[in-house]
Amino acid sequence: MCGIVAYIGSQKAYPIILKGLKRLEYRGYDSSGIALYSEQIETCKRKGRVAELEVWDEKITETATVGIGHTRWATHGEPSDANAHPHTSNNGQLTLVHNGIIENYASLKQELVQKGYTFKSETDTEVLVNFIEEIQKNNDYTLEEAMRVALKRVVGAYVIIVMENGFPDRLVAARKGSPLVIGVGEGEHFLASDASPIIEYTKKVIYVNDYELAIITQDEIILKNLGNETITPYIQQLDMELAQIEKGGFDHFMLKEIFDQPASLTDCLRGRLDSENQILTLAGIDQHLSIFTEAKRIVIVACGTSWHAGLVSEYIIEALCRIPVEVEYASEFRYRNPVINSGDVIIAISQSGETADTLVALERAKEQGAFIFGVVNAVGSSIARLSHAGAYTHAGPEIGVASTKAFTAQLTVLAMMAIKIGLEKKTLSMSEYKRYLAELALIPEKVKTVLDTHEAIQKVAIHYAAARDFLFLGRGYNFPVALEGALKLKEISYIHAEGYPAAEMKHGPIALVDEHLPVLFIATKDAYYEKIVSNIQEIKARKGKVIAVVSADDTLIRSMADHVMEVPEVDELLAPLLSVIPTQLLSYYIGVELGLDVDKPRNLAKSVTVE
Ligand code: AGP
Repeated sequence: MCGIVAYIGSQKAYPIILKGLKRLEYRGYDSSGIALYSEQIETCKRKGRVAELEVWDEKITETATVGIGHTRWATHGEPSDANAHPHTSNNGQLTLVHNGIIENYASLKQELVQKGYTFKSETDTEVLVNFIEEIQKNNDYTLEEAMRVALKRVVGAYVIIVMENGFPDRLVAARKGSPLVIGVGEGEHFLASDASPIIEYTKKVIYVNDYELAIITQDEIILKNLGNETITPYIQQLDMELAQIEKGGFDHFMLKEIFDQPASLTDCLRGRLDSENQILTLAGIDQHLSIFTEAKRIVIVACGTSWHAGLVSEYIIEALCRIPVEVEYASEFRYRNPVINSGDVIIAISQSGETADTLVALERAKEQGAFIFGVVNAVGSSIARLSHAGAYTHAGPEIGVASTKAFTAQLTVLAMMAIKIGLEKKTLSMSEYKRYLAELALIPEKVKTVLDTHEAIQKVAIHYAAARDFLFLGRGYNFPVALEGALKLKEISYIHAEGYPAAEMKHGPIALVDEHLPVLFIATKDAYYEKIVSNIQEIKARKGKVIAVVSADDTLIRSMADHVMEVPEVDELLAPLLSVIPTQLLSYYIGVELGLDVDKPRNLAKSVTVE
């Protein structure tokens, strides 16, 4: 889950690649490097952030109009100058950057060592560049031919971009599993892991598919498959603005994206919820309505925060559609050889649309004939293209590693799906249908009301920033929000936090409670209210510090809790859309109070494109 950028054209390549890598740093930021081609190929690579490369003041940074760059999230070999990309082949002819994992690199390396190859790094990537050299040398192949042959022997995921000595006017790229976008300019081309480094230069892009190879010069793009058949590139128009990927005056992308939510939820509802005429339009569902109304079972597959969105929607879909739902961790589902029956519908939830475990889990399910419906944020991403149908969440680019606005947009799409299917199945009455549409239409405004309390939430955050452990508790629709709140705090503040169904406490975790443990309850007014009041009393009885997310008109819990964070009244089914916001802000403000890099938390990356 690295970030790669490349440029070929008439402009200076170095500043374009450097800026592009900074935009992709959320994909991995433990080491980085750039290779430029002028008279010859020269490389600068360092452990650490992309900014480290700014020291490179060689003449070539002024003259080269071709180059490749990489920002890394280590998989094979710890972060170091030697393990940083680009990597060059033993004969010095080939230099490449790689995003992905070569799973059979050890056996390939053994073959090469027996042939006298030596290695400066511990990376799978250096094995790949030398393997391509070996194939090329032995068969007197062009680089393109050698890559086609070599990649047929490679097991794993990759995007590679290769420069070859003697060919200053050409880049060759290939893709399988990891994302690659090509930006089409006038007499220049841009390559990157996603569109954010490209958007300020061109909106015309090509999404490269699996097993495709691209030969790129400044004036031409030739796309081929590994079978050497030429493919007509499909140029798409990007629907993203540069401003969307800037901080917009906020200190961090995470805070900007939390405050984006009224707008991102409005965008998510736009063209779908016509509350005036009480019509809900979801093209991906409308075109396949019978598949959903006749579904025997729905299996939701996802990871991390997207998995939590899946858990909330299990409650919503079962309640409104009376279809049994199972929520699966993609990383387990892909290896468990799950039972997939006809009539099963698989819903994949993913912000990036590139999460490797989710992608492979879907491939497995698709091989068994399941219908795949994608709920994805990144337009044109692999999961979107692998799905039979889907619904984009339209939350806009999410740069902060911690997912926030994508989560609420996912919940909104899944709620709309359930309301629509429920009405069609007549498991939801027309009056209920209309009531939920009216509630949904009010959500963006209610989110704004929660955001307006950010200063009060910041005070609570500063009060608990020194805690070493945290418990998050919820019931019903709010139970997954407790899991999500705990995940956000872990990601952003490195404080050990756990989420639990509140009633589970008595079965063990309550042993953790004492006067040092903050316990955050998601306790908005719902069918479980009385139950959660007694759970709060159990914690208070053991001197636990109680923070509660409550409905604005709550008086009882307000009198019991040490601190409260309030949200407007809302139907319990949509409560997670509001009750999660205070937990997002709490995590953010605790991370800032602890002086941590909230946009690039340690050990994490935005899109997990390796398993
Ligand atoms: C959430 O804040 C994390 N970034 C992570 O758990 C994320 O949700 C998970 O990796 C899934 O990513 P996806 O939605 O892009 O598939």
